[in-house]
Amino acid sequence: MDESELWPRLGAAALAALENAYVPYSNFRVGAAALTGEGRVVSGCNIENAAYGVTLCAECSMVGELFATGGGTLSHFVCYGGLQGETAQLITPCGRCRQLLYEHRGPDLRIKTANGVVGIDQLLPDAFGPHNLSRQP
Ligand code: THU
Repeated sequence: MDESELWPRLGAAALAALENAYVPYSNFRVGAAALTGEGRVVSGCNIENAAYGVTLCAECSMVGELFATGGGTLSHFVCYGGLQGETAQLITPCGRCRQLLYEHRGPDLRIKTANGVVGIDQLLPDAFGPHNLSRQP
């Protein structure tokens, strides 16, 4: 599938997930979707909590689906968000979720943003990652 077909497909999956968001506190619904290296589409929505810090971002529940459906890595990612009753817009992931994407990225993860398609290095330069936990120089 070329990118002209892929992004609309992922966008539709993200917007469908957004419809299921549980956001009684912020009223800000988020839907995330990605293509995996194995060709699956995974998606997620944000799930808030009365203990605000326990809230799951859409990317968190998407990574849950990634693993629940067999694991793998992410090759293309998109995320939409918006206040209930307003039109959702492309959003770039929060800092924590950039770290999640970094961990589960494929060799060339492409991320669609309002400013174009970027790589994870642009969103999270000099990332902390598995290499930091290795004793190898
Ligand atoms: N949120 C996400 O789901 N993903 C992000 O990348 C940014 C923020 C959610 C968390 C919370 O439920 C709401 O958006 C407002 O911050």
